[in-house]
Amino acid sequence: MVDWVRLELHVDTFDEATFEPYLHRAQESGITFTTMAELGDTPAHRRALYDLNRTCSADIPDRGEFYTYEEYVAQRIDVPAFTPEGVALALLDGTWIGMSATSLHPGKGHAFSEMTGVLAPHRGLGLSLALKLLAIRFVRSSGYERLTTVHHPRNASAIAMNHRLGFVPPPNDAAD
Ligand SMILES: CC(C)(COP(=O)(O)OP(=O)(O)OC[C@H]1O[C@@H](n2cnc3c(N)ncnc32)[C@H](O)[C@@H]1OP(=O)(O)O)[C@@H](O)C(=O)NCCC(=O)NCCS
Repeated sequence: MVDWVRLELHVDTFDEATFEPYLHRAQESGITFTTMAELGDTPAHRRALYDLNRTCSADIPDRGEFYTYEEYVAQRIDVPAFTPEGVALALLDGTWIGMSATSLHPGKGHAFSEMTGVLAPHRGLGLSLALKLLAIRFVRSSGYERLTTVHHPRNASAIAMNHRLGFVPPPNDAAD
């Protein structure tokens, strides 16, 4: 049985100023940031999101077989919690190189960090921190106080990334 690592961040306590330099540094190196809403929730962009998510997910321990495109759309996009404003994207020369997708759960009173991923050649440069900064701004502007996430215990880089941002285990360590 997998002992999933659950983490959460109270966005009001998030230290935005500490992470803004990562955003600026990436922009200075030619990376642009946008959202699926700004680009348009079109079939071509859904396919690009799928491709990026699938490529990055191949590095998640024990991830197993990824969705087919049709399954991805049905289970991850055409669902009430999905919003194109919640999909932060990093582009370099027109190529989608990073994403951080956040879903909203009004019934549960929190936002959920669905997937943050950066293509391997662009890792280790602080890009995930820049993308999560944008995700956290989105959560705050949507009126939510809590951003939650869950990781495989062997996904050391993702767990470290979230610790770095201030994520901590939930008080009762129970998912909701
Ligand atoms: C996890 C992932 C998104 C990190 O992206 P990244 O842009 O390379 O990460 P950053 O350069 O922004 O690093 C942010 C922090 O994460 C941690 N981190 C990143 N890579 C790490 C690694 N290989 N080992 C340990 N810690 C790591 C560090 O704490 C780092 O901050 P620091 O360098 O200031 O200490 C990337 O490795 C990835 O796409 N992995 C595959 C997909 C995945 O597992 N996603 C998470 C599940 S939703």
